[in-house]
Amino acid sequence: MKRAALIFALAFAACRTATAPVRKQDNAVGAGAKLFREHCARCHGATAEGRADAPSLRTSRVHGKADAALFAFLTNGDLRRGMPSWSRLPDERRWQLVAYLKSL
Ligand code: HEC
Repeated sequence: MKRAALIFALAFAACRTATAPVRKQDNAVGAGAKLFREHCARCHGATAEGRADAPSLRTSRVHGKADAALFAFLTNGDLRRGMPSWSRLPDERRWQLVAYLKSL
């Protein structure tokens, strides 16, 4: 019984992260831009143009990624290569960052 509840919870979580709920909201891009300045600009540059230590995010590589893939990347980061995990930001905030990156 416990296992069924766990599977249900996991399936629910998977469904939730598969869509980008805030992307449709008008303010998502603006909110994402603000978050970007606060958390990301010091490495990726003020307009995500990239710096010596972090790549540009204005690339077809980033734009070509599915929203859910970007969201997952922000959640996990890539610590070995110097990209922090942003799992401490609430889901909604990470979706706003995805909306901003896709707007560039
Ligand atoms: C401490 C410096 C640092 C900060 C702060 C940082 N990043 Fe990164 N980021 C990196 C590095 C270094 C990489 C390259 C990692 C790799 O090659 O896998 C990267 C890679 C990425 C990529 C993948 C780029 C690609 O071409 O695949 C995305 C998207 C990204 N960062 C978004 C963000 C966002 C959004 C934030 C703010 C929430 C952020 N980063 C904050 C250093 C940083």
